[in-house]
Amino acid sequence: MKKTTETNVPQAALEGSMRDFRVISGDNLVERCDQFFNWQDTRRQSGTWPFSRATEQGPAASCAVRDDTGVLAEGVNFASQDYLSLSSHPAVHEAAQAAIRDFGVHSAGSPALVGNISTSIMLERRIADFLQMEEAILFPTGWAAGFGVIKGLVRSSDYIVMDALSHACLQTGAQASTRNVLLYRHNNLEHCRERLASIRAKDTENAIMLVTEGLFSMDSDTPDIEGLQELANEYNATLMVDVAHDFGNLGEDGSGHIGIQNMLGKVDLVMGSFSKTFGSNGGFVATNSRALKEYLRFYSPSCTFSNAMSPIQIATVSKALDIIQTQEGKQLREKLMMNVLSLREKIRERGMDVYGDPSAIVAVKTGDEGLARMTARLLPQVGLLANLVEFPAVQKGQARFRLQVMANHSEQEIEAAASRIDYAMNMAGHQLELVNKGEAAETPVALAS
Ligand SMILES: Cc1ncc(COP(=O)(O)O)c(C=O)c1O
Repeated sequence: MKKTTETNVPQAALEGSMRDFRVISGDNLVERCDQFFNWQDTRRQSGTWPFSRATEQGPAASCAVRDDTGVLAEGVNFASQDYLSLSSHPAVHEAAQAAIRDFGVHSAGSPALVGNISTSIMLERRIADFLQMEEAILFPTGWAAGFGVIKGLVRSSDYIVMDALSHACLQTGAQASTRNVLLYRHNNLEHCRERLASIRAKDTENAIMLVTEGLFSMDSDTPDIEGLQELANEYNATLMVDVAHDFGNLGEDGSGHIGIQNMLGKVDLVMGSFSKTFGSNGGFVATNSRALKEYLRFYSPSCTFSNAMSPIQIATVSKALDIIQTQEGKQLREKLMMNVLSLREKIRERGMDVYGDPSAIVAVKTGDEGLARMTARLLPQVGLLANLVEFPAVQKGQARFRLQVMANHSEQEIEAAASRIDYAMNMAGHQLELVNKGEAAETPVALAS
């Protein structure tokens, strides 16, 4: 291992969190952003700010990324969410090019006006059929769908009962809709029941939306969907499940945990994203009610007042769906799961641990934020692109590296990911000791094998 210049990592770069700047004060909206920027820049300058990086060639299994100081890093890429590797599939590219020929590049309007194209309507039908639901409606992104399904349906006198770890789009949608938001402990049906019962004990006039995810993206775990639907039925609530991370890539037919739990067609509302498995951007809500679909179209602001998915996105997602529903899709899911199991095993063999159950999200337990940031500083140098997740996205002291596995990762790339994160975490531990003693941490430059 060669050693280059010594880099000081100030304590300030290892302390604090984004939570500290969520509420900022000061009489000038522009100037008060400096509070955040100063802290962020302390981290940026010490290499402990591993966010806002841009790929040079798109989300390939191995690729180069440039950080926002202009520094280029190359390595195996476990930081992109292209789970079945469909964004680089030749048939998907051909479909996108054909869409430009046939429809141009722009949707040029909201789906409530004339923003949809004929193939958008076909995609809605196919998503509904895949989930064995009556109807589906498209949104410009998954975020817009998650926010919009809640904001579109829930009014200020209604209630939301939500898993405490639900995604930001769901939490923001809930906050924008009502003050009556009750969180229940993650995947805890008994606590969920208590929340529902407490509402119905005093209010039988207003509605309740019960919100969860099919696969939680920080913990790689799954709720008892049937149990939640039964609770919803019992307390006259409407269940909404966000399937952004499992739909298309999990289960024999790709129908995700709803399919695995034999709940296709039986969940009140299913919301998803095309940004993980379908090689594009976009989102949807599926329902058994035509009336609810029509209501969303005109009362869900992120649908009504936002341009429809573009022709290129519609073609990309439609072709990805073709593949997902064929033998090739099944093989890609099998390859993805082989990679996932292999990565989890290789990580554990090296004495580290991962969260949750096997899925495309392999979250490596790291713990202390200081250790995690020192590790993040080393990863680009040892040739591993992985996303750091820290408080407030997860609890304090439970920082982790979320490795997102893709079907076209090779066995060598999986091996490299495991050995490089192991090496970086060990090296970071030594460096953290030095930094805590007020000494400089050395910066290694060499690729671990
Ligand atoms: C659980 C969940 N829901 C919704 C979204 C938003 O999806 P999109 O990237 O399509 O906006 C994400 C993506 O981060 C997600 O993880």
